[in-house]
Amino acid sequence: MSIIEKALAKQQQKNTQNTGTSDQTSGQQQVKNNIADVAPKTALTLDKKSLSERGYLIDNGTRHSIKDEFRQIKRKLLNNAFGNAAKTLHHSNLIMVSSAKPNEGKTFVAINLALSIALEQDKTVLLIDADVLRPSVVRELGVQENPGIIDYLLGDSEQVSDIIYDTDIDKLKLIPAGKPHHLSNELLASEKMATFANELANRYPDRIVIFDCPPLIGATETLVLANLMGQALIVVEESKTTIADIQAATEHLNENLALGLVLNKAIRSHKDLYGYYGYGYGTKD
Ligand SMILES: Nc1ncnc2c1ncn2[C@@H]1O[C@H](COP(=O)(O)OP(=O)(O)OP(=O)(O)O)[C@@H](O)[C@H]1O
Ligand SMILES: [Mg+2]
Repeated sequence: MSIIEKALAKQQQKNTQNTGTSDQTSGQQQVKNNIADVAPKTALTLDKKSLSERGYLIDNGTRHSIKDEFRQIKRKLLNNAFGNAAKTLHHSNLIMVSSAKPNEGKTFVAINLALSIALEQDKTVLLIDADVLRPSVVRELGVQENPGIIDYLLGDSEQVSDIIYDTDIDKLKLIPAGKPHHLSNELLASEKMATFANELANRYPDRIVIFDCPPLIGATETLVLANLMGQALIVVEESKTTIADIQAATEHLNENLALGLVLNKAIRSHKDLYGYYGYGYGTKD
């Protein structure tokens, strides 16, 4: 039963209890008003000041370096998604952000990438919190909790559109993780998730979809999820992630995936050590 259906049932029960009769017309009117309360689809307001203070790419004229770094990363991803390479990729517009282990900066990179793509004139970006066991996108953005991907996979939210939220950044849309569930990682590896990814790729082919995913080592579901994506961005924490970690994280990935590495938390002068996307963000400038 969807949230709206539940609200309807609850309201109908309340009306009958209150009046003892069924005044259909006024009852229905009241139900309509309550649906608006239960499922507000007003745009979510990001806490931009706090985001900017924590190093996120908010377009307020400052932090040019981080903007440039993400511009480089995003160009490559957009080319893969919509350029010539797109023909060779399955679901080229679906991009997962993951890492070998926890806490290497996946959410930081996923959000910044989404913000950077939202700055493009003609691109819409959908950011999905797919790290369903340790969701943090909603908290990082400073927006309110809402039903999300888990509610959809459980069947509690019926339409994909029920769980896609507009934000006050014009081209940025969000799907939160939704309510915690003990089988949430298993749900990510479900058949319904595969159908969902297919629908996102086909219904919104001109939209970049970024999945903030769980780490790869120790979570087989992340590998299953990777099979639904056209591109993967693996975050590597400088001085912490070992080559062995990177190998273990990437060796079982589908070989057709366009794979990029992002060097995170790097001291700026080291940033060119990694030739790939070479993203570095230092605290020393
Ligand atoms: N480049 C960076 N500059 C400054 N702070 C960063 C950077 N990257 C990550 N952080 C901070 O490091 C912490 C961990 O980052 P984040 O939450 O993005 O990692 P994660 O890989 O998503 O972690 P988890 O595995 O728990 O989901 C956060 O407090 C984040 O704000
Ligand atoms: Mg995270």
